[in-house]
Amino acid sequence: MLSNSIFAGLALLAGLVSASIQIIPGATITTAGTNQHMQAHGGGIVESGGLYYLIGENKLNGSAFQSINCYSSPDLVSWTFVNELLTLQASGDLGPDRVVERPHVLYNDNTGKWVLWMHIDSSSYGEARAGVATASSICGTYTYLGASQPLGFQSRDLNVFKDTDGTGYLLTEDRANGLRIDKLSADYLNVTTATYLYAEDYEAPAIYKSGSTYFMFASHESGWSPNDNIYCTATSLSGPWSAWTTFATVGSNTFSSQTAAVVNIGGVVMYMGDRWVSTNLMASTYVWLPLTISGTTATLTNEVNWILNIASGTWTTGPSETTPEAEASPQTLSGGAILLSCSGCSNTTDVGYIGGPSPGGTLTFPAISSTVATTTTIRIKYLNGDSTQRYANVLVNGVAHVVAFLPTTGGTPGSSTLTVPLKSGTGNVIEFEAYNSGWGPDIDRLMVPVS
Ligand SMILES: *[C@@H]1O[C@H](CO)[C@@H](O)[C@H](O)[C@H]1NC(C)=O
Ligand SMILES: *[C@@H]1O[C@H](CO)[C@@H](O)[C@H](O)[C@H]1NC(C)=O
Ligand SMILES: *[C@@H]1O[C@H](CO)[C@@H](O)[C@H](O)[C@H]1NC(C)=O
Repeated sequence: MLSNSIFAGLALLAGLVSASIQIIPGATITTAGTNQHMQAHGGGIVESGGLYYLIGENKLNGSAFQSINCYSSPDLVSWTFVNELLTLQASGDLGPDRVVERPHVLYNDNTGKWVLWMHIDSSSYGEARAGVATASSICGTYTYLGASQPLGFQSRDLNVFKDTDGTGYLLTEDRANGLRIDKLSADYLNVTTATYLYAEDYEAPAIYKSGSTYFMFASHESGWSPNDNIYCTATSLSGPWSAWTTFATVGSNTFSSQTAAVVNIGGVVMYMGDRWVSTNLMASTYVWLPLTISGTTATLTNEVNWILNIASGTWTTGPSETTPEAEASPQTLSGGAILLSCSGCSNTTDVGYIGGPSPGGTLTFPAISSTVATTTTIRIKYLNGDSTQRYANVLVNGVAHVVAFLPTTGGTPGSSTLTVPLKSGTGNVIEFEAYNSGWGPDIDRLMVPVS
């Protein structure tokens, strides 16, 4: 973990002057250690030892189980791949063509172990079991202990909840009867008793406790397509629970996402949702948004980008930006890069043929401005009509960064995040060029924080 500590330390130093690093819902997030979009879907963020860990499903190769991945971050903006907690086995529950979904961990104070619960199933979802694994460190290699139907009931989407008294609970979708809350044994390895059975059969459950109020969030069932997710509240996990109601703008389908977890990051309550791309699951993105909790009311508002200040436990909407167009002066093109018509792009034009075989096309933004010297998050608006990721080598004031670009659909530009230091003034240079001689994305424009 030495490299992580150094990384956290550097980020902390950078944090002193980085007022505008942003969380960007729905973006391609290139991770250090893989140079690919983060693959940790259907999971949650847990803090341990001053770092944040995202644990979730690797969907790089479709829906079948490949691995449960763990990434770390000091700030929820820059992410580093750490480990595969469970890997594909030759056979068995973790073998080929298996379903292993919604991995969630909790730390057991009695045993000093991390306990990972997950949905275990056949590819036809006919087994409906809950599996459990343990490890001695959060991002370590987990030992798989097996799976069963909790208390004899079907179990599909699941989550865990550790109450303030240390008691652990399994939240589990029993399609035959309804969503359940079950109490875990003292070591969290077994389900002991039924705590509550909702009359409704909802999925994607997540509990958040605010003061003495429990909030249960969940999703209706509409396959990979999003719906208006709902929540209810209680002062005891065994009920009575209030009626279910929506927490995001009705009709927005929870801003096109499905609940994965609700977490508290340094005092800011954050909704974590998955924006599943059913036709290409690896291109699914993360919809993380601030959730306002007031009494027994939860309200989610949409943000294109937002700033999480962990140190102060506050958040703000995204910064003012300049929006330099790839096709406009003073940008320069070389080596075969050309202007292309793009109906979904701003000014209906973008720049294509960036990268490719040597010498490769390049696009240079020679006059990017920032009113302060700071580390900031730039959104790169791009198109990628392939079904796989494209990459570009992006030089920012001469320093190279590999950036991934997920497939886009329908000619609508996607966003890729780039968190980098900028100098004060108008002389920052950002150049896009080939990465490993591959074709980069078509670039529409950059969204650069003013300060
Ligand atoms: C990808 O998934 C398919 C179908 O499950 C499987 O046949 C193939 O071996 C997998 N490839 C990799 C690289 O895991
Ligand atoms: C798990 O809990 C169930 C229900 O209380 C019990 O019947 C079973 O023996 C327990 N299993 C283990 C391995 O402790
Ligand atoms: C719009 O695109 C044209 C090229 O198609 C370019 O010459 C022009 O500068 C662009 N205008 C703006 C405002 O970006």
